[in-house]
Amino acid sequence: MDTFYVTTPIYYVNDVPHIGHTYTTLAADTIARWKRLAGADVFFLTGTDEHGVNIERRAREAGVSPQAWVDEIAPKWQALWKRLGISNDDFIRTTEPRHIRVAQNLFQKAYDRGAIYKGTYEGWYCPSCEAFYAEEELLEGQLCPIHKRRVEWTAEENYLFRLSQYRDWILRKLEQEPLFLQPETQRNEMLSLVRGGLRDLAVSRLSVKWGIPVPFDPAQTIYVWVEALINYVTAIGYLDNPERYNRFWPHVHHLVGRDINRFHSVIWPCFLEAAGLPSPKQVWAHGFWTVEGEKMSKTRGNFIDPIAEITRLAEVSGAQWEVAADAFRYTLLREVPFGQDGDYSHAALIHRFNADLANDFGNLLNRALPLVDRHFGGQIPPSGPPEGPDGGLRKAAEEVLGAADRRIGTFDFTRGLAEIWRFLGVANKYIDEAAPWSALKARNSPRAGAILYNTLEALRIATILLTPVLPAATQRVWEQLGISTPLASQRLDDARRWGGLPAGTRIRPGPPLFPRIEARSDRQATLLAGGGAGARRASTGAAPARAAGSTRAAGSPTPVSSRGGTEMGEITIEEFNKVDLRIAEVLEVKRVAGADKLLALVVRIGQETRTVVAGIAQQYAPEALIGRKIVVVANLQPRKLRGVESQGMLLAANDGDRPVLLAPDQDVPSGARVS
Ligand code: MSP
Repeated sequence: MDTFYVTTPIYYVNDVPHIGHTYTTLAADTIARWKRLAGADVFFLTGTDEHGVNIERRAREAGVSPQAWVDEIAPKWQALWKRLGISNDDFIRTTEPRHIRVAQNLFQKAYDRGAIYKGTYEGWYCPSCEAFYAEEELLEGQLCPIHKRRVEWTAEENYLFRLSQYRDWILRKLEQEPLFLQPETQRNEMLSLVRGGLRDLAVSRLSVKWGIPVPFDPAQTIYVWVEALINYVTAIGYLDNPERYNRFWPHVHHLVGRDINRFHSVIWPCFLEAAGLPSPKQVWAHGFWTVEGEKMSKTRGNFIDPIAEITRLAEVSGAQWEVAADAFRYTLLREVPFGQDGDYSHAALIHRFNADLANDFGNLLNRALPLVDRHFGGQIPPSGPPEGPDGGLRKAAEEVLGAADRRIGTFDFTRGLAEIWRFLGVANKYIDEAAPWSALKARNSPRAGAILYNTLEALRIATILLTPVLPAATQRVWEQLGISTPLASQRLDDARRWGGLPAGTRIRPGPPLFPRIEARSDRQATLLAGGGAGARRASTGAAPARAAGSTRAAGSPTPVSSRGGTEMGEITIEEFNKVDLRIAEVLEVKRVAGADKLLALVVRIGQETRTVVAGIAQQYAPEALIGRKIVVVANLQPRKLRGVESQGMLLAANDGDRPVLLAPDQDVPSGARVS
């Protein structure tokens, strides 16, 4: 049996949880659930980092003791994870006696082995990071690179760790074990840091009282960063459960943000080596989230509170709260490749909710179940001999598991999910092509039944594969399918075998899980306009949407003549080919000030984001357009309309005065050519 241990950073208790913290935890939860699904023996740890000068200061400001302060805040983190359905096996607090014991034990071991000595440490110190910085790391020669606050020149008599002596050792490790630190960009950064040389590190503080005493000199406390890292060995029982420690430690994967990478991939393995313990198996340093192109900060007030975001999505869509939480998790993991920076926006969440979850996943259920209900007495019909498109569906089902496992199992959530969605695409296409309604019309009930069986069997497989990402929604799908074996007991192997859906199962159809977000009431429209949720890749999203051209529907609505094109004179195919028609996906829609017919649509065409202005405001509510795929002329000269530059024109049929948008008949990726 595989063994897998995954950790999140332990969060500072004085921080307000935001999307950054939530992201690490959701990623860790997803991989933990995936490995459990694969049958591994899993341990998943998170917790809180409760010592240090910042916490001491915060408590003083609040007029309470540090212990009272941390006791008040730590449960709030626990409650947040509970609300988000996080499946951690333990929650460690660094003020717990079990941790104090292990921190002192390892510190003593490193000291006994000669890796810690008494000296004076002087340097540029950032109190917020609780870290010293080398001169060349400072911004403008005096600012902390993380907090942009002025660093302080600090001299202290304390204990130092001989980090410099481990420089060659860690360099070799980073060079020879590429998987030890991922992604590659982060590995390269650490390689150049280490190649530049490592200085000994002050690992105790005389001035900080709120910490764990150095065992051989209790006037000093252990430097909070070294102490905090030790939580990872404490929790699995380094001192109190050696069997469990030995089982899990060789398989530990630390998930961290890139700002704290060097602590995990350089200092931590060196310290462990000094104390005689093996290095972690892997460190994964993910990217940073910005919000609408800006760095999140307390002063800007643009912190994204995950609970508020999910609540808003639930309200706007009418989905259950837990299902909205799944959509939030899915969007974060799907939009930005793990390891890259990403930008957070409202539009992408709505788009993913509508297009991926409502259309591709939810709809498969909503298309098949009513037919089973109406024509098969609510019982899943038996499968039949394979015909026509059946083989293709089955083949896709057999391939998706391996493809998803290769990706998700190695932290490539984005591509793993894309594989599952490719499979859902095949299943949707299957039901379209196999057309059970036609078989029913032809009174070929066994064939209609077989098609429905196959569709629902594909859905069963996708549902199992999606449990790590959509834990609540998949549970609801499972209930609607009526399968009596609990979803929680399913393993990847159950998704490997075609035919696992028991014919005769009584289905239990329910309301749509992902009600499409449309402008159904003024209140919903207001909530949507309120902005907030969602994510998009920095590459397409961070830059302001490119300025833009004109639309025929806007000024002169003559998109397609109902009498055909000849009255306009003939054109050659070469002339027609000069028009670059593309599928575009609507990300955001705004009204154009001072023009009651115009909407400005921010659309994605492949990798590009543009604004297209169109005269459709009287027929289409802005919210109803988000997530839709439309057709645009992509190579039209830009034109300014009422002060808004439009680049491109959308296509609409012209029904009298009423423009009717053209849309692809099936889902096609944005950027696809139309000819
Ligand atoms: N207490 C330390 C970790 C000690 S681990 C032994 C700490 N805590 S933290 O609460 O400040 O941050 C925890 C995590 O949140 C880090 O992984 C950090 O990278 C992540 N993020 C904070 N802001 C972030 C973004 N804007 N985007 C993505 N992740 C970010 O550091």
